[in-house]
Parts: sequence; structure tokens; C-alpha cells
Amino acid sequence: MRKNIVAGNWKMNTTVPEGVKLAQEVNEAVAAQAALKCDVIVGVPFTHLTAVKAVLTHVALAAENCADHKSGAYTGEVSAPMVASTGAQYVILGHSERRGYYAETIAMLKDKVDLALAEGLKVIFCCGESLDERKQNIHFGVIKDEIEGSLFHLSAEQMANVVIAYEPIWAIGTGETATAEQAQEIHAFIRGLLAEKYGEQVADDTTILYGGSCKPSNAAELFAKPDIDGGLIGGASLKAADFMGIVTAF
Ligand code: 13P
Repeated sequence: MRKNIVAGNWKMNTTVPEGVKLAQEVNEAVAAQAALKCDVIVGVPFTHLTAVKAVLTHVALAAENCADHKSGAYTGEVSAPMVASTGAQYVILGHSERRGYYAETIAMLKDKVDLALAEGLKVIFCCGESLDERKQNIHFGVIKDEIEGSLFHLSAEQMANVVIAYEPIWAIGTGETATAEQAQEIHAFIRGLLAEKYGEQVADDTTILYGGSCKPSNAAELFAKPDIDGGLIGGASLKAADFMGIVTAF
């Protein structure tokens, strides 16, 4: 059976000391929960990985990105082997902010996925449409292209190490959440794509997260949907109490 997951994506927020403090608060709160129904992950800036890893006992660690090359003359980049060497278990790839602001392409993300998996990292692969694409009614095609183009060269065994996050761009940081029905519709569509390509078992076993203005007040309704297996949380992951309000929504 697939796992439920609530993952924070801190984005470019907190200094190292602030991040360590936040990670400690989240870790303590998670440790204090007797029977959590989900795994908890914090996604943090590269600079924070080692220091945050040192304070986590009950929470897994993710990087927010990795390079599309393994090593070499790529000033300022951070490779998948470097991320793995910090003890992080996950890497978030394909976030719409990376695709949009840093011109990450489907082909580039395919390479990043391969490099991350080769290092034993699990991938949280983000996909999602813009408001314009939804208005044009091409959102299903956009999501299909993103998933097929960067993931469908993988084997079924490799897919076991991939979590998919559906994040409609129009709902990220805007306060406008997709309704639980809108999110469920896309999650079911994604699971259908996985079933067509890899069969029912892989489709059933793949965790699909929702991201975009998810907060304590709407998490339970979203997570109650059959194909929504948790959340990728931006703004609300920056306060331990808010994040825990989502973690405990299952
Ligand atoms: P918000 O929760 O701030 O809308 O961000 C969602 C997101 O982009 C998580 O990756």
C-alpha cells in the first residue's frame, strides 16, 4: 500500500539557525505524536541540509533541487551525489518555480531524475498547469507531457522511488486552493496514466501529493479524497504549528 506523506517545501526562506530551530520544532512535534498516519519530510535549502539532518530523528529530509550533471565545472550548482552525502533521503524536482524562473525543461528534469535515483535519493516530482492552461482546457495534456517526458523512461522498480506532487501554479502562494474535487480529478488522471504505463499495482502504490495553498483548514478535506495521499506544503510549512496542523489532518 502507498504511503501518506506530508512534505514541507521551505523554498528560499530561513537562515541556517532559523531553519535548524524550525526543524527541531517539527521533529519534536512529530516525535510526540503517538500514531501518525503519514510520513513527514522537510524540504530545505542546500545550505541547511547538513545542519538540519543532525537534528532530525522522526522526520525525513529533502533537498529542493539538484543539478542536471553529476560533477564538474558548473559553478554554483549542487549535484545529486552531494545532496545524498548530506543524508537527505529525498529531492524535490520540477517545481514550477524552477521550471518557470530557471527555465528547467522536461528533458533537463529527466536527467535530474536519473541522477537522483542513481544516488539512492527518492524523487518528489512536481507537475501542474498554469491558470492560462486551465482556462484553455489543456491542463490534462500539460500534466501528461510533464510526467511522460521526465518519468516514463523509468522502470517499474524505479517508479517505487518516485512520489508525484500535483501543484496547480495558480494555487501556489496565492491563497487560492484547488477544490478537493478539482485536485481529486487530476490525481485520478495521474494515477490513470501510471496504470496505463506500468499497470494497476504501480499506480496503486504511487503516492500522489497535492500542493498549492494547503493549510490546516483545508488539508483534511483534500486528504479525504481517495487519490490524494498528502501534501507538499509551502507557506504553511514555515511555522511548526501550521505544518503540524496539516500533518495531523489525516
Ligand atoms: P504554498 O503552500 O505556499 O501555496 O506553496 C505550495 C508549493 O509550491 C509547495 O511546493
